[in-house]
Amino acid sequence: MRVMVVGGGGREHAIAWMLAKSPRVQKILCIPGNGGTATLPKCQNIAMNPQDFDGIARFAGVQGISLIIVGPEDPLAKGISDHLRQQNLPVFGPTQAGAQIEASKSWAKQLMAQANVPTATAKTCTTAAAAKSYIQRQGAPIVVKADGLAAGKGVVVAETVEAALKAVDELTQQGFEKLVIEEFLEGEEVSVFALTDGKTFRTLLPAQDHKRIGEGDTGKNTGGMGVYAPAPLVTPELMSRIEAEIIAPTLQALRDEEIDYCGVLYVGLMITPEGNPKVVEFNCRFGDPETQVILPLLETPLEEVLLACVKGKLEVLPPLEWKTDQALCVVAAAPGYPESYTKGMKIQGIEQAGEKGAVVFHAGTQQRGSELVSSGGRVLGVTALGTDFDAAAEQAYDAIAAINFEGIYYRRDIGHRVRTSPAPPKTGDIAQDKSAEGATADEIGEEGTTETEA
Ligand code: AMP
Ligand code: GLY
Repeated sequence: MRVMVVGGGGREHAIAWMLAKSPRVQKILCIPGNGGTATLPKCQNIAMNPQDFDGIARFAGVQGISLIIVGPEDPLAKGISDHLRQQNLPVFGPTQAGAQIEASKSWAKQLMAQANVPTATAKTCTTAAAAKSYIQRQGAPIVVKADGLAAGKGVVVAETVEAALKAVDELTQQGFEKLVIEEFLEGEEVSVFALTDGKTFRTLLPAQDHKRIGEGDTGKNTGGMGVYAPAPLVTPELMSRIEAEIIAPTLQALRDEEIDYCGVLYVGLMITPEGNPKVVEFNCRFGDPETQVILPLLETPLEEVLLACVKGKLEVLPPLEWKTDQALCVVAAAPGYPESYTKGMKIQGIEQAGEKGAVVFHAGTQQRGSELVSSGGRVLGVTALGTDFDAAAEQAYDAIAAINFEGIYYRRDIGHRVRTSPAPPKTGDIAQDKSAEGATADEIGEEGTTETEA
């Protein structure tokens, strides 16, 4: 069969990599893909914009595509699945109505209230004055969220009332008209993904990512600096509660809204100190970097599972099979990330890292002639599997040490909560200091450009 993957990050590379392992999959077309999918066997990058729905539909028709997987939230929120479904194309990813679960935090909050799903208490405010007065009444800590998609920059966890008021001003200045002001939840965060055909669902192994740029989970929020799965925090009992108290009622509420939700329901959870799961956010897609550790643990061919969703036959799919290993991924970022960062840096050592037994997923890379160069803030995700997290971490760090690009930065303590061995020496400190200052013109070099990213 021939498959199409829309997107060009680490998540899409991991999806394509899984598909490529299956003998049933003959060809994978990535729109637009990245430096990693460019060299993946059976895989071809197509220089097409993920927002070009007409072009993608035409191309998928001509190519005889049996399955289209949409990676990122942006095209989903803009209605790519509606468009492709109208042409009778088999697409894995919710419709525009379903994607609201991520694209509008106020809509998601309303749905959760309807479904009686545990989450932080919140108020949706349509003016800055209303938001500020609610914040004054509630006090701090408190969380201020923009209602729309904001590439990870729309959430401010404010320690003080002043910081929350400032966040209101900043977000309204950026043009967000609606804000959700939310109770601060204490606890540990974990990601659980449910694959669904709209009727029934299957959960994948739980993962925990490290969102902060600095070691010890400090500093600025990022798209994710590392991740591990299966997260031991989610015991089988807790997973059963998450399924019964959160996923099932949410999918029922979507059906009540007459939304035919086929795709991933990404549940971002806070496990409170009392051990109760509460929803922090929903997303309408696979998480990144979580996908880079979850999928390599899956034994069942990925296309079988996704096709079962697309065909509405998830109920009859045999139980998912998983490796018994533990997986850990370390993200290598460009200097400056998550602020403005350097692009266009030559990357070396990927092959050597692979020889050490790790899988190197490309998040922000590009093939430029014979050279591989960086094109994003998060550049690579190095994943290793082991009999335990210590073994996986050792292998991932051994592999990432073989990789080099100017100013490469990665955290040395990924998985610290689940590892028994001490973190390797902090040789990344120099790179970290540089990243804190942001890239200078000299560091950027002739070909480089700077940009910011979630
Ligand atoms: P979101 O985009 O809603 O997931 O928010 C981004 C990050 O902000 C989350 O991953 C959490 O680390 C943090 N966050 C969001 N909402 C809350 C909350 N109610 N309490 C504590 N932290 C939160
Ligand atoms: N890892 C966070 C996300 O995918 O949104």
